[in-house]
Amino acid sequence: MPSPDVAQSAAAQRPLTSFDPQIRRLLAGMTLDEKIGQMAQPDQEFLKSPEEVKSYFLGSLLSGGDSDPRAGNGLTAWTDMIDGYQKAAVTTRLRIPILYGIDAVHGHNNVIGATIFPHNIGMGATRDPGLVERAARITSEEVRATGANWVFAPCVTVPQDIRWGRTYEGFSESPDVVKALGAAAVRGLQRDSLDDPLAVLACVKHFVGDGGTAWGSSGKGMLDQGDTRVDEATLRRIHLPGYVTTVKAGAGTIMPSYSSWNGEKVSGSEKLMTGILKNEIGFQGFLISDYAAIDQLPGNYKQQITRSINAGMDMVMIPKKYVEFITTLKQCVQEGQLPMVRIDDAVTRILRTKFALGLMNAKRSPLADRGLHNAFGSEGHRAVARECVRASLVLLKNDNQALPLANSAAHIHVAGKSADDLGNQCGGWTIRWQGASGRPTDGTTILEAVQRAVSPKTRVTTSVDGSGVGDAKIAIAVIGEKPYAEGMGDTADLHLAPEDVATVTRLKNSGAKVIAVILSGRPVFIEDILPHADAVVAAWLPGSEGDGVADVLFGTYKPTGKLSFTWPKASSTTLHRGDAGYETLFDFGTGLSY
Ligand code: BGC
Ligand code: BGC
Repeated sequence: MPSPDVAQSAAAQRPLTSFDPQIRRLLAGMTLDEKIGQMAQPDQEFLKSPEEVKSYFLGSLLSGGDSDPRAGNGLTAWTDMIDGYQKAAVTTRLRIPILYGIDAVHGHNNVIGATIFPHNIGMGATRDPGLVERAARITSEEVRATGANWVFAPCVTVPQDIRWGRTYEGFSESPDVVKALGAAAVRGLQRDSLDDPLAVLACVKHFVGDGGTAWGSSGKGMLDQGDTRVDEATLRRIHLPGYVTTVKAGAGTIMPSYSSWNGEKVSGSEKLMTGILKNEIGFQGFLISDYAAIDQLPGNYKQQITRSINAGMDMVMIPKKYVEFITTLKQCVQEGQLPMVRIDDAVTRILRTKFALGLMNAKRSPLADRGLHNAFGSEGHRAVARECVRASLVLLKNDNQALPLANSAAHIHVAGKSADDLGNQCGGWTIRWQGASGRPTDGTTILEAVQRAVSPKTRVTTSVDGSGVGDAKIAIAVIGEKPYAEGMGDTADLHLAPEDVATVTRLKNSGAKVIAVILSGRPVFIEDILPHADAVVAAWLPGSEGDGVADVLFGTYKPTGKLSFTWPKASSTTLHRGDAGYETLFDFGTGLSY
């Protein structure tokens, strides 16, 4: 077992360029079709059959947020599917295995039964790089159990406006927190060495400034995929530091953002991708475009491909029109719009990661190690997630020492739409791309955790709306946001839902002491409930282990979490940090304890 202090002891990764002599020899024998195949990444859901991996010499596949195995969503179905593609890859002429990429952004979150960790916003509140690294090591092991070898994580976005639907994917609004925790996540995912059979290739995203977009600048009128209108000094100060530390930690891949910088799409920016990232920071791995992102560049498909690859993109997440991509890219090369040296550089960068992962070692099987299935979602893994949960909770209010609760109380009432809802507790990017209320996977809800934590004499009753408190002197309300992901989560209105406010008010009117637990992907406006709650806990999107919440409510562990985002007042006229009209309710760094 890795020691908890791995953060300090992690050795530096072998430099990716050290594989270049072998790669040069391999490249010399590759046809143009084989090179182009390495640069193409379709989403598996659009392939007609695994045979296409062979016929197009595909170098990589992904599963997008809803791209599940046709045989279902369990561990075996995932493993069989990914192995099926890998088996096709190793029967090609050059036997180059594929990189299989997936959004394991808080655990291996597409697979039923995986350990689901708090989303990054909660991990940010822990301020604990060692814990982030241990969580990432477990994610890498569970991903490896299914045969995937590449994750689109960590997200080192630095969100500046919490109306953005991806706020929770960021550790913090502060580059200092992001810098430290992003690097820790890379060390955990890639371990001490990428050729550790339990390591996965990390992908730092979304380069750069994805969290800095101006309100109203996105296609849909809000923030996601919009335009970051800041000068270069600001871009470097706020949005770039996370890339410097993660590249230093050995990150093998980086995903350029859908968003623009001062009107120019990052996916087409030579200055950002080649100038700053590759030449200045010295990134030796490869760039993978975001999902159909190059289709958003100006011009026709030829122009989009040429522009992006000439600017430094190495692999393209297509995801659907792979035949058109392959054909068009080939034309661009044959017509001289894309120089062969750029193609060779892109393929070299991709192959570096394959060598580093040990995939090019013919004595090592690229298939899943099914021996890892035993520990998938195991008690031991969940114990670490539980530790993350309790360290991520931020106590915002605690009048008259309302918390901790005595676990010997005669009667506790647990209310609220999210009290017994694992899906709301996990948020977006959990089994479904957008997440789903209900019970999408295995885990423990907060209601179940309270039931487990109390003494056998304690009666625990429950209601969704806070009615029927009866003689309970303690009432816990679990309220907040429902799951969302990406642009669907953009919103102009961060007020709590009226039913949440009604639940808390009803509880207060019953005369009970009220503990409000807020599940949300960002700070939300809580003025409507603040006068009615004796204690308020921001629990973010804690994931599958509700026990971590009970640990803190009952005082087994004292709260240590600190806000990694400023918490605004509802009276704010803007929620873009630093702009006039932004009013603060709780400062960055707030967090009470007992
Ligand atoms: C998201 C990325 C994600 C990719 C693959 C995109 O829409 O922006 O964060 O890695 O899809 O699912
Ligand atoms: C996919 C996501 C992807 C999104 C991009 C969805 O269909 O499942 O992974 O991020 O499309 O718009």
